[in-house]
Amino acid sequence: MTSGRPPARPASAPEPDPTADQATKDAMSNATTVSPAHSASTASTLITNIAALVTNDPSSGDGSPLGLVQDAAVVIEGDRIAWTGDQSKAPATDNRVDAGGRAVLPGFVDSHSHLVFAGDRTQEFNARMSGRPYSAGGIRTTVAATRAASDAELEANLTRYLREALLQGTTTFETKSGYGLTVEDEARALRIAAAHTDEVTFLGAHIVPPDHADDPAAYVALVTGEMLGACAPHARWIDVFCEQGAFDGDQARAILTAGKAAGLHPRVHAGQLSYGPGVQLAVELDAASADHCTHLTDADLDALANSRTVATLLPGAEFSTRAEWPDARRLLDAGVTVALSTDCNPGSSFTSSVPFCIALAVRDMGMTPDEAVWSATAGGAAALRRDDVGRLTPGAYADLTLLDAPSHVHLAYRPGVPLVAGVWRRGERVL
Ligand code: NIG
Ligand code: FE
Repeated sequence: MTSGRPPARPASAPEPDPTADQATKDAMSNATTVSPAHSASTASTLITNIAALVTNDPSSGDGSPLGLVQDAAVVIEGDRIAWTGDQSKAPATDNRVDAGGRAVLPGFVDSHSHLVFAGDRTQEFNARMSGRPYSAGGIRTTVAATRAASDAELEANLTRYLREALLQGTTTFETKSGYGLTVEDEARALRIAAAHTDEVTFLGAHIVPPDHADDPAAYVALVTGEMLGACAPHARWIDVFCEQGAFDGDQARAILTAGKAAGLHPRVHAGQLSYGPGVQLAVELDAASADHCTHLTDADLDALANSRTVATLLPGAEFSTRAEWPDARRLLDAGVTVALSTDCNPGSSFTSSVPFCIALAVRDMGMTPDEAVWSATAGGAAALRRDDVGRLTPGAYADLTLLDAPSHVHLAYRPGVPLVAGVWRRGERVL
């Protein structure tokens, strides 16, 4: 076991999720026991001969935040975890899988992506790597391509990147609109996303689109009015890109407040390219997450440390824009809960790989391997205010990743190597 500083807090209590089914709601209200409703219909499976099992339950195994159990086993019943522990004490089951002395951890929870888009921005990336700086303006290129695409094209693109992510161990993901920026195009992006995940975010306030460039106030009025009305039924969350060149603090507050009134819960793109009001606004509005947090004042840090807002770090964006890294160590030392996600999007971070982000966070952002793995699983769940994913405890969803390695530390120790050898999602083996 490597030494790891404990994450500041466990995942916060979940909030009612209007899109969750009844089984999810049952589990969220009672995540440590298995109710018959969860296990009635399906056979049980034992996964045994696990060299190192990450449970994210500090009361299990070595007592660390990862709750690491050596020589472990897991029992799946239906779509849920029914039991974890020492393999010598495992109960009898219908089926049995030999993990071959390898590591098992919760499926990754990627709490920040932008996957409903069309088009390609290779040239922009190429120019950036030849010295041109990143700015929010490149988003317009994707907006034009997305508006021109058919629903089927958008869905095919989304499905392709979801498959890519699943093969790299991601079993829960959030995704956003934000490349439509008309009432119809935002609503259809959310409809398409909602067919694939419960964690859907309305990001009509990504940038002011070119058609409203002369009158940003009119665009904010559209986002908080007709667009919100059309989009709220398809989303759980509302987000704003609070940044120079996008939306200022007053605009962001108006948009997030209107979203809350429509039943959406806030999350904020904050402090990505410059210092600004986004982080403190996120805390003020009890946002589930302030995302990026690359430019962070001491006052921002204090605000986060005294809140339940998670800081979601997205190192793929700094990698792909050659920007300075967010200082994860500073956040962790201040007691802030940190999530680690991909930000997968065609402009600033075109990676669907959580393992890649873990490796970057360990190498360049001051995280230990234990902290990075916690942040990419339990941290992501906290950023979505979920406690039925991101942990392997009785009652949680049976979302597991099997590594072709004896330890979760290999995710950082063997960067760029495809280590994911098996994935179970909702109790089904999908890889
Ligand atoms: O999180 N910051 C705003 N949105 C994305 C970038 C989107 C794009 O460049 O297309 C991000 O980095
Ligand atoms: Fe983003």
